[in-house]
Amino acid sequence: MKALVLSGGKGTRLRPLTFTCAKQLIPVANKPILGYVLDQVAATGIREVGVITAPETGQYVKDYVNNGSKWNITVTYIPQEPLGLAHAVKTARPFLSQDSFVMCLGDNVTGQGLGTFVEKFRREKLDALIILKEVDDPSNFGIAQLDENGNIIRLVEKPKSPMGNLAIIGTYVFSSKIHKAIERIKHSWRGELEITDAIQEMLNMGFKVKAEILKSWWLDTGKKDDILSANAKILDEYIQRDIKGTVIGGIVDGRVRVETDAKITNSTVRGPCIIGKGTLIENSFIGPYTSVGDNSQIINSNLQYCVILENVIIKDVEHLEDSLIGKNAKLTKNQRNRTVKLHIGDFSEVEL
Ligand code: DAU
Repeated sequence: MKALVLSGGKGTRLRPLTFTCAKQLIPVANKPILGYVLDQVAATGIREVGVITAPETGQYVKDYVNNGSKWNITVTYIPQEPLGLAHAVKTARPFLSQDSFVMCLGDNVTGQGLGTFVEKFRREKLDALIILKEVDDPSNFGIAQLDENGNIIRLVEKPKSPMGNLAIIGTYVFSSKIHKAIERIKHSWRGELEITDAIQEMLNMGFKVKAEILKSWWLDTGKKDDILSANAKILDEYIQRDIKGTVIGGIVDGRVRVETDAKITNSTVRGPCIIGKGTLIENSFIGPYTSVGDNSQIINSNLQYCVILENVIIKDVEHLEDSLIGKNAKLTKNQRNRTVKLHIGDFSEVEL
C-alpha cells in the first residue's frame, strides 16, 4: 500500500499567509500541519508516499519534507495544477500504479491515527473507505447520506440543500478501481474533478465502498479560526511541561513548553502553550492556547488563544486574542494617540 498526501491547492482563504507559505505548512503548536499528517502516515508502516504540490507553493513543501527521512518514508513529488482532488489522483496515477493507497489532505488533522481504517479496508477487501464526522455547516463539505445500517445511499460535494450533516473528512483509502471511476466523471460547477463525485461513481459502478464515523476530533484548517482551533486541540493533547529556556521572575504555570534559548522575564505564562526557540517574553501575559514561534519578541503585551509565527514583534499591545499573526510581522501600540496606523499585506484581515 502507498500513501498520497495532497499538499497543493490555492490556499486563497488563508491569504496573505499563503503568499509566502503553503497552507499545509502553517504551524499549530509550532509544527506545520503537514508534519502531523506525515506522522500519521508513517505510523501505519507505509513507506512510499507521493506528495502533491502546487506551482506557487511546491518549493516550500519540498524544503520542509525534503527526502522524507525525518519520517523514514521515501517521497515522490507530484506537481499538479489545482484542478480538484480527483484530478490530483489522476495526476498521481503513474506513481500509484495498481496499488491501493491511503489519501490524506495535507491541511486536515484528526485526533485518531490511520491504522484502524487501513485494517478495515484490508479486512473487508474494500474498494473505498471514507471517514465521516458530523458538522454544523454541511454546505462547506462533501456530505454522505447513510441508511439505517450505515450503508452509503449517496454522496454530494458541498450540497446547497444538504441531505444530512455527515461530512467526508480528508482521509480516504482506495483500491486501484478509483482510477476507473475518475475516468468517467465530469468537472463540477466549480471547475474541479471532485473526489466525492468519483466515489459516488464507484458506488454507481457497484464497487465496494464503505463509510466509518470518526470517533475523535477532526479539523480542516482552511481558515483562520480553524487554525486557532487546531492549535488549541494539539496543545491540549501533546504539550507537556518542559522548560528548556530561562525564566527570570514571574510565573510559568501548567503545561508550558519553553524551547531552548527562549527567555521569559517578569511575565506570566499559562499553559497549555508553547514558546519557540530564541523568543523573548517580557513584562507580558501569555494566556492558554497560545503558540509563539521562534525568535519572536512579546513585550508589555497580553495575548491569549493566538498563533504567532516566527520573528514577530508585539509591543505594548494591551489585549490580543483569537489572532493569527504571520512571520516577520510587527504589532505595536502608539501610547500617545488612539489613531490606528497600519502597514499590512494584501488580503489581510483586521478587526479593531
Ligand atoms: O476537508 C474535507 C473536505 O475536503 C471534503 O469534505 C470535501 O469533500 C473535499 O472536496 C475537500 O474540500 P475542500 O474545498 O476543503 O478542499 P480544498 O480545496 O481545501 O483542498 C483540500 C486539500 O487538498 C488542501 O490541502 C489542498 C489540496 N489540493 C486541493 C486541490 C483542489 C490539492 O493538492 N490539489 C487540488 O487540486
